[in-house]
Amino acid sequence: MIDKKNILIGVTGGIAAYKVVEVASRLKKSGANVRVMMTLAATEFVSPRTFEEITGNAVFVEMFGDAAHFHVAHVALADFADLILIAPATANFLAKAAHGIADDLLTTTILASDKPLLIAPSMNTKMFMNSATQDNLKVLKARGVKILEPAVGELACGTSGKGRLPEPVEICAVVEKFFASEPILSGKRILVTAGGTIEAIDPVRYIGNRSSGRMGYEIAKSAMNSGAEVVLVSGKSEVEPPDGLKAFIKVESALQMRDEVLKHFETVDCVIMSAAVADYRVKNPSAQKIKKSDEILTLELVKNPDILRELGTLKKSQVLVGFAAETQNILEYANKKLAEKNLDFIVANDVTAEGAGFGVSTNIASIIWRNGTVESFSKMSKADLAEKIIERVEKTLCH
Ligand code: CTP
Repeated sequence: MIDKKNILIGVTGGIAAYKVVEVASRLKKSGANVRVMMTLAATEFVSPRTFEEITGNAVFVEMFGDAAHFHVAHVALADFADLILIAPATANFLAKAAHGIADDLLTTTILASDKPLLIAPSMNTKMFMNSATQDNLKVLKARGVKILEPAVGELACGTSGKGRLPEPVEICAVVEKFFASEPILSGKRILVTAGGTIEAIDPVRYIGNRSSGRMGYEIAKSAMNSGAEVVLVSGKSEVEPPDGLKAFIKVESALQMRDEVLKHFETVDCVIMSAAVADYRVKNPSAQKIKKSDEILTLELVKNPDILRELGTLKKSQVLVGFAAETQNILEYANKKLAEKNLDFIVANDVTAEGAGFGVSTNIASIIWRNGTVESFSKMSKADLAEKIIERVEKTLCH
């Protein structure tokens, strides 16, 4: 897929620069024409000669250095590229790129380019989480730059946290995906549930929950970005549905959600149940508005069907993804739901943690697989988490 594609790799001055040697090598072996530009700081970590040997092409460092190779290097390099990959990207580079600062060959090339840009930041966790860096990332994302989230793990500075450059094989997979002629989920149908169900007490009141619908709507968006046909079944939500859905079905109660989900289940390849489904409904909702009278009003509640559990028993080849919104013993409860509902994986989160749960635009989640593997993510936007979830659906469905 990347055969004969022109990939320009920009290496900035981070310890993870050594990993990018393998990235360049893998891309080259897959048939890509790879050129490398480096900042001066990057050459402290890896010699330009290494990249020259790997790629078979001259490496560019100095703004006015190698005129013999390229006439106006920054313009020529930008023109050459089908894709520009910056890895590792330092906090300093992100700041310059966000603000249009061009003070070396690499940043000047970025500014002179209208080519797709994929950036893989890598740095110490505190630098990454610093609002200056986060603001710069927001600016870049808003411009359509694709950011490869750093991994969580041990860092060169001796600490542990978010900031590791993803492994070369993962970076190359993202590059492959970029050049894939067909989006990876094209031809696949995904049903996403989102929002919270509401259970009527009378024509005026209901029992509801705090779900905003954001997580599920982001998942629907991300699945569409990967080429899937998406049916979104939504309870009460505070956000607008994304454009381009195959179907948008608005429901109120858990029973209505169950009907709609079951109607589509046979024809879909995957169901992602991110809806907050009410576990109980009022046994006999009043046809008329209930007037206040006694000091105590007792409502009798009956259990709602567990939609996901039902899907788990009906499942044939469909991939089933559940959510576990917990307030304690997160992994234990999530594992139990994963097994009992016959899921492929479950996304667990502590809804009481700051920056996670209802009504906020971020989440802190773990993904638990049937074989016991747990992937724990630090705080990220719901859009980024949605992308992680869809990447895993892709792996499960397409490999
Ligand atoms: N779910 C469902 N039908 C229900 C309740 C939950 O399909 N009646 C789905 C949710 O959409 C979610 C998963 O099951 O994907 C777990 O939901 P959650 O509310 O965390 O757990 P419950 O199974 O309802 O258990 P509990 O409320 O006791 O934690």
